[in-house]
Amino acid sequence: MTSLISAKGVHRLYRRGGFFRKAEPLHVLRGVDLEIREGEAVGLVGRSGCGKSTLGRVVLGLERPDEGTVLYDGRDVFAADGERFKEYRRNVQVVFQNVQGAVNPRMTAGEIVAEPLRNFLGLSKKEAVERSRPLLEQVGLKSSDADKFPAHFSGGELQRVCIARALAPEPKAVVFDEAVSSLDMLVQARVLDLIRKIRDERGLACLFISHDLRVVAGLCDEVALMADGVIAARERSVAALAASGHPAIKRLLESVPPSRPLHCRERAATDGEPEALPVHVAAGVSQAAM
Ligand SMILES: Nc1ncnc2c1ncn2[C@@H]1O[C@H](COP(=O)(O)OP(=O)(O)O)[C@@H](O)[C@H]1O
Ligand SMILES: [Mg+2]
Repeated sequence: MTSLISAKGVHRLYRRGGFFRKAEPLHVLRGVDLEIREGEAVGLVGRSGCGKSTLGRVVLGLERPDEGTVLYDGRDVFAADGERFKEYRRNVQVVFQNVQGAVNPRMTAGEIVAEPLRNFLGLSKKEAVERSRPLLEQVGLKSSDADKFPAHFSGGELQRVCIARALAPEPKAVVFDEAVSSLDMLVQARVLDLIRKIRDERGLACLFISHDLRVVAGLCDEVALMADGVIAARERSVAALAASGHPAIKRLLESVPPSRPLHCRERAATDGEPEALPVHVAAGVSQAAM
């Protein structure tokens, strides 16, 4: 697989402090190297506050690194002219955790999905909304859902709308930042199934950011561990990462809550719901934890 996106020696500092206090910089990223190859799904795990979302924003081109850079197809994203930068933004899309905050409540689902089609492909509003209908079907919603407003969707359905929006401009890669973290476990499982299906069908590269090891375990080709502002380890599975014995992965494994309570499994079986997480995932994580 050839390299699609690569972060090289990325540093990111946030200046904090108030009017009276001298600003003390918070050095969040301290030389991050991370490569994502074409069609590859990379999980990015680490404790809350370690800098995963910051790296995600840098990779998306939303924040400029203080040092280092990001290459796309071998070319420096932050040195790109307006047209090429826009092309990059089209090719690398994002799905965030906070679905309510990620959409305009006064826009219909069709208009939400249409936005990148208008911005990046220059389609008229009418054309773009019509194009949104098959996209909504691809993410398991109905074509007529294009006419509904966000308030009429559940959290899981709204996340599907956001996924359709991310897919609309036919990107090469999608950054999922805690994209299923606010969903309950059964809905999480269905959305993860959808992401897996889309990935396979489209050959999408993904950066799947999560504090939850179980979520990345079933989805990713490789898992990178962020600690102390760098990628401290990268392995082919969560189990292999656990075997690396890095103190940061030990702490993350200790924080994995027990698997889904039995009554949920029973309910899932009777409702014909999919398993919250594939059995091998739970097994992989618990074996890894031993
Ligand atoms: N815009 C910002 N200004 C100041 N500090 C920030 C900003 N964004 C993030 N931080 C701080 O940077 C650190 C890393 O945050 P973040 O990247 O969100 O971590 P994670 O996604 O791993 O939970 C945190 O201490 C956070 O408070
Ligand atoms: Mg985050």
